[in-house]
Amino acid sequence: MTSRYLLHAAIASLCLYWTGCAELTDDPLQPSGPAARAHPEGWIIGSSDEHHAKAIAAAGWDLVECQTCHGVDYSGGITASSCYTCHDQGPEDCDVCHGGGGQIHPPEDLSGSSDPASRGVGAHMAHLSTQATTPLECDDCHQIPAGFADPAHIDGDGRAEVIFGERALTGGAMPIYDVDMASCANTYCHSGGRFGLNPTVTWNDPEANEGACGTCHALAPGPETAHVQVNATSCAICHASMIDADDNFIDASLHMNGEPDL
Ligand code: HEC
Ligand code: HEC
Ligand code: HEC
Ligand code: HEC
Ligand code: HEC
Ligand code: HEC
Repeated sequence: MTSRYLLHAAIASLCLYWTGCAELTDDPLQPSGPAARAHPEGWIIGSSDEHHAKAIAAAGWDLVECQTCHGVDYSGGITASSCYTCHDQGPEDCDVCHGGGGQIHPPEDLSGSSDPASRGVGAHMAHLSTQATTPLECDDCHQIPAGFADPAHIDGDGRAEVIFGERALTGGAMPIYDVDMASCANTYCHSGGRFGLNPTVTWNDPEANEGACGTCHALAPGPETAHVQVNATSCAICHASMIDADDNFIDASLHMNGEPDL
């Protein structure tokens, strides 16, 4: 009996020794407090390189990992911490990553830049607010994802896919977007060579002024085109429904609408 008691006592003290980690939590040299939290200290400090926005971008914009702890609906899950505290429409709301203030398109791009030389910003505003024709829609250049989780949305390259809509294809044009150069060629809108000019336009070069008169079609169309030979100030004589004698558009919706307007 005595030897069995001693054996038990020995095992018990060994267990205490091995499970000493229970005591280590009281050790002042061990991590505790903020450093033991789930995330780095800068996780919600806007100016920090550790901010979760930067971590999410670096991880390919995948929110699935966040959902494992914060819940599939982001309301807290196994943590007591809901994303809705700050993102009142939830973190999958379009303007959390794109644009801002309720709009889902640049000027502010995914990198946080609003500089038109940044390819995410580029000439969005020039196209979406043009006064020279009916303003463009997103699907003239992109397919809009049905929702955040649409497989066509985030596909790993971190960059928007340009897929031309009907407008750029008008009249049988065969437009090409060059991803490396961020440039477009052969779009109907920039005239696609039909009027003597076929500019390759660079998306993110604001200095190029690709929207000026005379860049898409000559002003006036020269002898290499089938157009009647005219001088530059005379457009309104024949195209009177769309332009006045000072080359101001009377009805811009007739400009770049797929047919000549007289
Ligand atoms: C392993 C579980 C786990 C994962 C994965 C996780 N979190 Fe957390 N998160 C927590 C816990 C627990 C808290 C509560 C505070 C703490 O302990 O740091 C927290 C807190 C936060 C906070 C602070 C909330 C506040 O009001 O202070 C934010 C922001 C946050 N998480 C964002 C994210 C994001 C974004 C992701 C995905 C990139 C993510 N978390 C992934 C567990 C996790
Ligand atoms: C304490 C407030 C706070 C909480 C809680 C919070 N966020 Fe954020 N989050 C922000 C702020 C502020 C930004 C914008 C940072 C910026 O513009 O650089 C942001 C940005 C983001 C972005 C945009 C990334 C980008 O670069 O555009 C995503 C995605 C995101 N948060 C996801 C989450 C998720 C998922 C949770 C919950 C797990 C969460 N956030 C909880 C404050 C919060
Ligand atoms: C005239 C064509 C055109 C129109 C119209 C257009 N986009 Fe874009 N968009 C582009 C090009 C070109 C890029 C840059 C692609 C690249 O990085 O190669 C881009 C990039 C983007 C990006 C990625 C931004 C980033 O930070 O990388 C988003 C998001 C986007 N567009 C959304 C929209 C939305 C939403 C609309 C409508 C409100 C819209 N676009 C209208 C041509 C267009
Ligand atoms: C967590 C960040 C995030 C959120 C939230 C988000 N997006 Fe995006 N979005 C991206 C990224 C990253 C890209 C670049 C596409 C890629 O990686 O292929 C993108 C690309 C786009 C594009 C360009 C076309 C394309 O598919 O490449 C459009 C349009 C777009 N998003 C619309 C939306 C809409 C609409 C919503 C809301 C339903 C939304 N996004 C929510 C990150 C986000
Ligand atoms: C003397 C009359 C006349 C004048 C002046 C004139 N045009 Fe035209 N234009 C036409 C006619 C007719 C057509 C349609 C037949 C054709 O394509 O040649 C046309 C067609 C066009 C087209 C092609 C439209 C399309 O969809 O195919 C362009 C571009 C054009 N004109 C530009 C101009 C510009 C710019 C001016 C001023 C510098 C101008 N025109 C002055 C008569 C004129
Ligand atoms: C972004 C390219 C682009 C720019 C910049 C541009 N045009 Fe055009 N323009 C076109 C296209 C494409 C057509 C042929 C489509 C059409 O018939 O509307 C056209 C047609 C015309 C026509 C023929 C009338 C007609 O509707 O067919 C006139 C006149 C004209 N443009 C004048 C101008 C003037 C003046 C300016 C400068 C204020 C200008 N364009 C700038 C692309 C452009």
